Amino acid sequence: MATAQIYPSLLAADFGRIADAARVVEGRADWLHVDVMDYHFVPNLAFAPDTVTALRAVTDIPLDCHLMIEDPDRWAPGFAERGASNVTIHAEAVDDIPGTTAAIRAAGARTGLAVKPATPVEKYLDDLHRFDLLLLMTIEPGFGGQKFMDSVLPKIKAARRLLDEHGLDLWLQIDGGVNAETIERAAAAGVDVFVAGTAVYGAEDPAAAVESLRAQALRASDRLTPPARSAHGG
Ligand code: DX5
Ligand code: ZN
Repeated sequence: MATAQIYPSLLAADFGRIADAARVVEGRADWLHVDVMDYHFVPNLAFAPDTVTALRAVTDIPLDCHLMIEDPDRWAPGFAERGASNVTIHAEAVDDIPGTTAAIRAAGARTGLAVKPATPVEKYLDDLHRFDLLLLMTIEPGFGGQKFMDSVLPKIKAARRLLDEHGLDLWLQIDGGVNAETIERAAAAGVDVFVAGTAVYGAEDPAAAVESLRAQALRASDRLTPPARSAHGG
Protein backbone atom coordinates (compact mmCIF):
# COMPACT_ATOMS: atom_id res chain seq x y z
CA MET A 1 0.00 0.00 0.00
CA ALA A 2 1.09 3.56 -0.63
CA THR A 3 -0.30 7.03 -0.06
CA ALA A 4 -1.71 8.85 -3.09
CA GLN A 5 0.23 12.11 -3.20
CA ILE A 6 -0.40 15.19 -5.36
CA TYR A 7 2.39 17.74 -5.90
CA PRO A 8 1.33 20.98 -7.63
CA SER A 9 4.08 22.24 -9.95
CA LEU A 10 4.82 25.92 -9.41
CA LEU A 11 6.02 26.18 -13.01
CA ALA A 12 2.34 26.58 -13.92
CA ALA A 13 1.68 29.25 -11.28
CA ASP A 14 1.64 33.02 -11.77
CA PHE A 15 5.34 33.90 -11.25
CA GLY A 16 4.30 37.28 -9.87
CA ARG A 17 2.37 35.58 -7.07
CA ILE A 18 4.38 32.49 -6.15
CA ALA A 19 3.71 32.84 -2.41
CA ASP A 20 -0.05 32.95 -3.04
CA ALA A 21 0.25 29.87 -5.26
CA ALA A 22 1.93 28.00 -2.40
CA ARG A 23 -0.63 29.14 0.18
CA VAL A 24 -3.69 28.37 -1.93
CA VAL A 25 -2.95 24.62 -1.87
CA GLU A 26 -1.89 24.44 1.80
CA GLY A 27 -3.71 21.66 3.63
CA ARG A 28 -4.48 19.98 0.29
CA ALA A 29 -1.23 19.43 -1.59
CA ASP A 30 1.18 16.93 -0.05
CA TRP A 31 4.27 18.72 -1.32
CA LEU A 32 5.09 21.53 -3.77
CA HIS A 33 7.06 20.70 -6.91
CA VAL A 34 9.76 23.24 -7.79
CA ASP A 35 11.30 22.92 -11.26
CA VAL A 36 14.87 24.08 -11.67
CA MET A 37 16.12 24.58 -15.24
CA ASP A 38 19.42 25.92 -16.55
CA TYR A 39 18.99 26.56 -20.31
CA HIS A 40 21.46 23.70 -20.91
CA PHE A 41 19.95 20.41 -19.79
CA VAL A 42 16.60 21.72 -21.07
CA PRO A 43 15.87 24.71 -23.33
CA ASN A 44 14.16 26.72 -20.59
CA LEU A 45 15.11 28.60 -17.43
CA ALA A 46 13.30 28.32 -14.09
CA PHE A 47 13.57 28.55 -10.33
CA ALA A 48 16.78 29.24 -8.41
CA PRO A 49 18.17 28.27 -5.00
CA ASP A 50 16.90 31.63 -3.71
CA THR A 51 13.37 30.59 -4.72
CA VAL A 52 13.64 27.68 -2.29
CA THR A 53 14.78 29.98 0.50
CA ALA A 54 11.94 32.39 -0.26
CA LEU A 55 9.30 29.62 -0.37
CA ARG A 56 10.56 28.15 2.89
CA ALA A 57 9.79 31.49 4.52
CA VAL A 58 6.17 31.62 3.36
CA THR A 59 4.89 28.02 3.58
CA ASP A 60 5.36 24.84 5.59
CA ILE A 61 4.55 22.55 2.66
CA PRO A 62 7.60 20.36 1.93
CA LEU A 63 9.42 21.33 -1.27
CA ASP A 64 10.26 18.80 -3.99
CA CYS A 65 13.03 20.20 -6.21
CA HIS A 66 13.28 18.70 -9.69
CA LEU A 67 16.69 19.63 -11.06
CA MET A 68 16.69 19.75 -14.86
CA ILE A 69 20.26 21.01 -14.93
CA GLU A 70 23.71 19.94 -15.96
CA ASP A 71 26.22 19.08 -13.23
CA PRO A 72 23.68 18.24 -10.49
CA ASP A 73 26.65 16.79 -8.57
CA ARG A 74 27.79 20.33 -7.97
CA TRP A 75 24.46 22.05 -7.36
CA ALA A 76 22.03 19.55 -5.82
CA PRO A 77 23.24 19.61 -2.18
CA GLY A 78 22.74 23.40 -2.13
CA PHE A 79 19.01 22.96 -2.70
CA ALA A 80 18.83 20.64 0.30
CA GLU A 81 20.75 23.18 2.38
CA ARG A 82 18.20 25.84 1.37
CA GLY A 83 15.42 23.70 2.82
CA ALA A 84 14.20 21.42 0.04
CA SER A 85 12.79 18.20 1.52
CA ASN A 86 13.52 16.21 -1.64
CA VAL A 87 16.05 16.88 -4.38
CA THR A 88 15.66 14.93 -7.62
CA ILE A 89 18.53 14.71 -10.09
CA HIS A 90 18.40 13.47 -13.68
CA ALA A 91 20.08 10.18 -14.54
CA GLU A 92 21.20 11.65 -17.86
CA ALA A 93 23.10 14.45 -16.11
CA VAL A 94 24.53 12.98 -12.90
CA ASP A 95 28.11 11.83 -12.78
CA ASP A 96 28.64 10.43 -9.27
CA ILE A 97 25.41 8.89 -7.94
CA PRO A 98 26.82 7.55 -4.64
CA GLY A 99 28.59 10.82 -3.79
CA THR A 100 25.78 13.15 -4.79
CA THR A 101 22.98 11.21 -3.12
CA ALA A 102 25.08 11.00 0.05
CA ALA A 103 25.67 14.76 -0.02
CA ILE A 104 21.95 15.48 -0.49
CA ARG A 105 21.06 13.19 2.39
CA ALA A 106 23.79 14.65 4.59
CA ALA A 107 22.14 18.04 4.03
CA GLY A 108 18.92 16.58 5.42
CA ALA A 109 16.81 15.89 2.33
CA ARG A 110 15.39 12.88 0.58
CA THR A 111 16.62 12.29 -2.93
CA GLY A 112 15.11 11.22 -6.23
CA LEU A 113 16.33 9.87 -9.56
CA ALA A 114 14.58 11.21 -12.67
CA VAL A 115 14.61 9.62 -16.11
CA LYS A 116 13.44 11.09 -19.41
CA PRO A 117 10.91 9.05 -21.40
CA ALA A 118 13.60 7.28 -23.45
CA THR A 119 15.98 6.52 -20.58
CA PRO A 120 15.65 2.96 -19.24
CA VAL A 121 15.25 2.45 -15.49
CA GLU A 122 16.91 -1.01 -15.47
CA LYS A 123 20.26 0.60 -16.22
CA TYR A 124 20.18 2.18 -12.74
CA LEU A 125 18.92 -0.84 -10.81
CA ASP A 126 22.09 -1.20 -8.75
CA ASP A 127 21.87 2.43 -7.64
CA LEU A 128 18.16 2.63 -6.87
CA HIS A 129 18.68 1.77 -3.20
CA ARG A 130 20.44 5.13 -2.84
CA PHE A 131 17.22 6.99 -3.69
CA ASP A 132 13.88 7.64 -1.98
CA LEU A 133 11.94 8.41 -5.15
CA LEU A 134 11.97 7.43 -8.81
CA LEU A 135 10.60 10.04 -11.25
CA LEU A 136 9.48 8.79 -14.63
CA MET A 137 8.97 11.78 -16.95
CA THR A 138 5.75 11.50 -18.92
CA ILE A 139 6.77 14.37 -21.22
CA GLU A 140 10.13 15.60 -22.55
CA PRO A 141 11.27 17.85 -19.69
CA GLY A 142 11.43 21.61 -20.17
CA PHE A 143 7.91 22.96 -20.41
CA GLY A 144 4.55 22.61 -18.74
CA GLY A 145 1.31 22.15 -20.62
CA GLN A 146 2.51 19.26 -22.80
CA LYS A 147 0.55 16.13 -23.63
CA PHE A 148 0.94 13.05 -21.40
CA MET A 149 2.93 10.37 -23.24
CA ASP A 150 0.91 7.18 -23.10
CA SER A 151 3.98 5.39 -24.46
CA VAL A 152 5.47 5.66 -20.94
CA LEU A 153 2.70 3.54 -19.36
CA PRO A 154 4.46 0.18 -19.98
CA LYS A 155 7.61 1.68 -18.44
CA ILE A 156 5.61 2.71 -15.36
CA LYS A 157 4.25 -0.82 -14.97
CA ALA A 158 7.71 -2.33 -15.42
CA ALA A 159 9.21 0.09 -12.89
CA ARG A 160 6.48 -0.75 -10.37
CA ARG A 161 7.27 -4.46 -10.81
CA LEU A 162 11.00 -3.85 -10.55
CA LEU A 163 10.65 -1.90 -7.29
CA ASP A 164 8.31 -4.51 -5.80
CA GLU A 165 10.44 -7.48 -6.88
CA HIS A 166 13.60 -6.00 -5.42
CA GLY A 167 11.92 -4.78 -2.24
CA LEU A 168 12.89 -1.20 -3.06
CA ASP A 169 10.80 1.22 -1.02
CA LEU A 170 10.93 4.21 -3.39
CA TRP A 171 8.03 6.50 -4.16
CA LEU A 172 7.12 6.24 -7.84
CA GLN A 173 6.46 9.70 -9.25
CA ILE A 174 5.40 10.95 -12.67
CA ASP A 175 5.63 14.48 -14.05
CA GLY A 176 4.08 15.88 -17.21
CA GLY A 177 0.57 16.00 -18.63
CA VAL A 178 -1.08 14.71 -15.45
CA ASN A 179 -4.73 15.78 -15.46
CA ALA A 180 -8.27 14.48 -14.98
CA GLU A 181 -8.03 12.58 -18.24
CA THR A 182 -4.69 10.83 -17.63
CA ILE A 183 -4.25 10.34 -13.87
CA GLU A 184 -6.37 7.21 -13.61
CA ARG A 185 -4.33 5.15 -16.05
CA ALA A 186 -1.11 6.28 -14.39
CA ALA A 187 -2.48 5.33 -10.97
CA ALA A 188 -3.58 1.94 -12.27
CA ALA A 189 -0.07 1.41 -13.67
CA GLY A 190 1.48 1.85 -10.22
CA VAL A 191 2.27 5.54 -9.66
CA ASP A 192 1.85 6.94 -6.15
CA VAL A 193 3.17 10.50 -6.50
CA PHE A 194 1.62 12.75 -9.16
CA VAL A 195 3.10 16.11 -10.17
CA ALA A 196 0.49 18.37 -11.77
CA GLY A 197 1.09 21.90 -13.03
CA THR A 198 -1.52 23.04 -15.52
CA ALA A 199 -4.21 20.77 -14.05
CA VAL A 200 -3.85 22.51 -10.67
CA TYR A 201 -2.90 26.13 -11.39
CA GLY A 202 -4.92 26.31 -14.61
CA ALA A 203 -8.02 25.39 -12.59
CA GLU A 204 -10.30 28.01 -11.14
CA ASP A 205 -9.93 26.43 -7.68
CA PRO A 206 -6.42 24.88 -7.37
CA ALA A 207 -7.12 23.33 -3.94
CA ALA A 208 -10.25 21.62 -5.26
CA ALA A 209 -8.30 20.42 -8.31
CA VAL A 210 -5.77 18.72 -6.00
CA GLU A 211 -8.51 16.89 -4.12
CA SER A 212 -10.30 15.87 -7.26
CA LEU A 213 -7.11 14.48 -8.85
CA ARG A 214 -6.40 12.54 -5.65
CA ALA A 215 -9.92 11.11 -5.59
CA GLN A 216 -9.49 9.93 -9.18
CA ALA A 217 -6.13 8.28 -8.40
CA LEU A 218 -7.66 6.52 -5.38
CA ARG A 219 -10.55 5.25 -7.46
CA ALA A 220 -8.25 3.88 -10.15
CA SER A 221 -5.82 2.00 -7.92
CA ASP A 222 -6.30 -0.70 -5.31
CA ARG A 223 -2.89 -0.09 -3.73
CA LEU A 224 -3.26 3.65 -3.05
CA THR A 225 -4.63 4.98 0.23
CA PRO A 226 -5.70 8.51 1.24
CA PRO A 227 -3.25 10.59 3.28
CA ALA A 228 -3.76 10.19 7.03
CA ARG A 229 -4.94 13.77 7.47
CA SER A 230 -8.00 13.19 5.26
CA ALA A 231 -9.48 11.15 8.08
CA HIS A 232 -9.63 14.35 10.10
CA GLY A 233 -11.18 16.34 7.32
CA GLY A 234 -8.32 18.58 6.54
C1 DX5 B 1 8.36 20.21 -17.01
C2 DX5 B 1 8.24 20.15 -15.51
C3 DX5 B 1 6.89 19.85 -14.96
C4 DX5 B 1 5.78 20.77 -15.43
C5 DX5 B 1 4.59 19.88 -15.64
O1 DX5 B 1 9.61 19.76 -17.42
O2 DX5 B 1 9.13 19.20 -14.97
O3 DX5 B 1 6.93 19.81 -13.53
O4 DX5 B 1 5.42 21.79 -14.55
O5 DX5 B 1 3.55 20.65 -16.14
P1 DX5 B 1 2.16 20.02 -16.57
O6 DX5 B 1 1.55 19.38 -15.38
O7 DX5 B 1 1.42 21.20 -17.07
O8 DX5 B 1 2.46 19.02 -17.66
ZN1 ZN C 1 9.05 18.85 -12.83
